[in-house]
Amino acid sequence: MGAILLAITGLDPKPWYDRFRLLAPHRDVRLWGGGAGDAAEVSYACVWQPPPGLLAGFPHLRAIFSLGAGVDHVTQDPHLPPVPIVRIVDPDLTMRMSEYVALHVLMHHRRQRLYDAQQRQRVWHEHEQPVAGMVAVGVMGLGVLGCDAATVLRRLGFRVAGWSRTPKELPGIESFYGAERLDAFLRRTEILVCLLPATPATAGILNLELFRRLERDGAAGGAYLINVGRGALQVDADIIAALEEGSLAGATLDVFPTEPLPATSPLWTHPKVTITPHSAAASDSRALVANILRQIERFEAGLPLEHVIDRSAGY
Ligand code: NDP
Ligand code: OXD
Repeated sequence: MGAILLAITGLDPKPWYDRFRLLAPHRDVRLWGGGAGDAAEVSYACVWQPPPGLLAGFPHLRAIFSLGAGVDHVTQDPHLPPVPIVRIVDPDLTMRMSEYVALHVLMHHRRQRLYDAQQRQRVWHEHEQPVAGMVAVGVMGLGVLGCDAATVLRRLGFRVAGWSRTPKELPGIESFYGAERLDAFLRRTEILVCLLPATPATAGILNLELFRRLERDGAAGGAYLINVGRGALQVDADIIAALEEGSLAGATLDVFPTEPLPATSPLWTHPKVTITPHSAAASDSRALVANILRQIERFEAGLPLEHVIDRSAGY
């Protein structure tokens, strides 16, 4: 039984370490930065934003576990050892994301920002309200999180479609796939939810040229962007330009090319932008450590690891 290394930056490592100690008291669990001991004894690395080059220093590493659903914080390391990279797939994370997506789709659909502004001015004025069935929501990325969010939105009554690399079959949800079908997907979409991973193929995909292809004359009264995927997907200056020219009527942004979002960013004060600090679906050690330990047990019993990424695709 090799040691489990926790290499965590940008998150408080303590709850993760405590949870591993609690659930696996028999295992050798080491916290990077606190004296990781003999590197040759480490078999598994559980990581969030590990320093580039760090993982190459463990010669007997058998698997790397991302503490989140995304793995770009791991794959960006040019010296990564050639072992499986496993990402988190867990109902706890999925439900948190679907809550967030539903909240922000509904916020735009029900014009909540407008009513908030009216309240501050003591204005009693009701706006026309289309039913959800008149509004087209498009989910970019129909993976684990995108499928669940799309299904929840469908249940709320929206006209939902998704876009992915490969075709999908989901009841009541239209599937678009591949670069050739992106245009058709965008042209029918009023509220765009982005749940793509950050890969070389998706970098900067949320740009002005794309926003201009969204449906802005539909029942929603404009086009809206909700990016919960990764900041590398979006071009901040293009979001502002799109809001100024009207190709976007509003945006909810949980992720940014630079995090934390610099205090100088004009996004902070833009009246049509809602910002959250990469909090759409927090990785909660109380749920996720058990998930990782279960994977390690399966692996040590000779079963294959689940949710191993395809390194060539980057997700
Ligand atoms: P999955 O790997 O399950 O799904 C990714 C989806 O994106 C798949 O449908 C895939 O298509 C699609 N995709 C990838 N590349 C392309 C491309 N070039 N063109 C079209 N579609 C593409 O990931 P999850 O759903 O679990 O997570 C999605 C992302 O959400 C994570 O990578 C992470 O960045 C982000 N995230 C953000 C959080 C937050 O708090 N803000 C929390 C958790 C995750 P196909 O199905 O055909 O393979
Ligand atoms: C994740 C994240 O990838 O929290 O899980 O961003």
